[in-house]
Amino acid sequence: MRTKRITVFASGSGSNFKTLHQSVLNGEIPASITALISDNPKAGAVTYARSQNIRTHLLLPSDFDESAAYTQKLESILSLENPDLVVLAGYLKKIPDHIVAKFSGKIINIHPSLLPKYGGAGWYGMRVHRAVIENGEQESGCTIHYVNEIYDEGPIIAQSHVTVNPDDTPESLAKKVQQEEHKLYPRVVRQLLEE
Ligand code: GAR
Repeated sequence: MRTKRITVFASGSGSNFKTLHQSVLNGEIPASITALISDNPKAGAVTYARSQNIRTHLLLPSDFDESAAYTQKLESILSLENPDLVVLAGYLKKIPDHIVAKFSGKIINIHPSLLPKYGGAGWYGMRVHRAVIENGEQESGCTIHYVNEIYDEGPIIAQSHVTVNPDDTPESLAKKVQQEEHKLYPRVVRQLLEE
């Protein structure tokens, strides 16, 4: 059987990307991560991809003066990579509607809250955890969902919950949620590829 192909998008430190790649290497995910797409040359994800000889496509916002050109470039990269699954792992730019439509049901995202809470444009990273603490929430977690045309609103695939303790800080909460992300994402990616 043909090896399934994953393309990862990441803009940040890349801890989820690394965890997914480790899960490929240890056989938990029966697939190959053939490429990383990033909009941040300084991202830890990019450094890691290069260290592992994973093909890296850098799409710098400054290289695209109009969104049509950005969409076209993404489309040509994805046509070349021909992924079975596109995994967003901390990619902060919105995926253009045209790409979402073309790869419908094949693009998934992870978000560091229990969506629909604390989701939508502008909600990412520490901003989410700070708001969760400020609002006195007793639980938080992470969500994996299909990507549709509306930011953080695609159908939910899986969630993992964590308890927010009275002495939690945004940083300690971020750590707990990240640990859950690292368990949940490989599991969900594996399940989806087996379907
Ligand atoms: C993850 O916590 C992910 O949930 C979040 O970015 C982080 C990336 O961390 N995504 C979003 O906030 C999307 N709106 P990483 O670079 O260490 O994998």
